[in-house]
Amino acid sequence: MTSAQGAKQSAGSSSDVGGDLRAFRWTDIPAAVRIEVEAFPYDPWSVETFWSELAQVPSGALYLAAVTEGRIDGYAGMTFVDADAHLQTLAVIPSLRGRGIGRHLLTALLAEATGRGMRRCLLEVKPDNDSAIALYQRTGFTELGTRPGYFPGGEPALVLELPLGERV
Ligand SMILES: CC(C)(COP(=O)(O)OP(=O)(O)OC[C@H]1O[C@@H](n2cnc3c(N)ncnc32)[C@H](O)[C@@H]1OP(=O)(O)O)[C@@H](O)C(=O)NCCC(=O)NCCS
Repeated sequence: MTSAQGAKQSAGSSSDVGGDLRAFRWTDIPAAVRIEVEAFPYDPWSVETFWSELAQVPSGALYLAAVTEGRIDGYAGMTFVDADAHLQTLAVIPSLRGRGIGRHLLTALLAEATGRGMRRCLLEVKPDNDSAIALYQRTGFTELGTRPGYFPGGEPALVLELPLGERV
């Protein structure tokens, strides 16, 4: 069993965060695109972007979906380049936020990254995205720097880093 399978299995047996985690499927794209529009109104991923990202699975990426009775509650994805894992997206539908689904998805991806021998995880986040930053900080991420003009409109990104290894 890989670390991700272990994480997904234990995640699936936990009822306090709602649904199970499973691999994101091509058929999840329409639901994810609808979630994107609300979660990232400044730059939502298109159907084509999801297809492009999923084309990197399995060797270069992992995308997971949190699902309850067939409904996509949230999803997250990470790419793997050399020894760096890079969180590409993480979103939960608004009515289900604050129930641990985001943490559940993030933890499972970090476990997989560790299992693949990644040495660190990197991500970019908007400086005013308080809920996401709180989640990342509670997970152990710290600020590595800023990336000027990263977001549409010229807003900079905070770059956060989490060393991996034995901790996950
Ligand atoms: C960021 C996001 C994925 C978090 O998902 P979630 O399921 O609501 O998060 P969780 O319930 O797992 O919360 C985990 C931690 O996040 C933090 N957090 C979550 N919502 C928060 C809020 N509204 N205010 C402050 N902290 C919050 C808390 O530290 C929380 O841990 P705690 O409950 O032990 O205090 C969700 O808010 C979302 O989809 N936002 C829009 C998309 C987005 O911004 N994604 C991140 C891009 S970098």
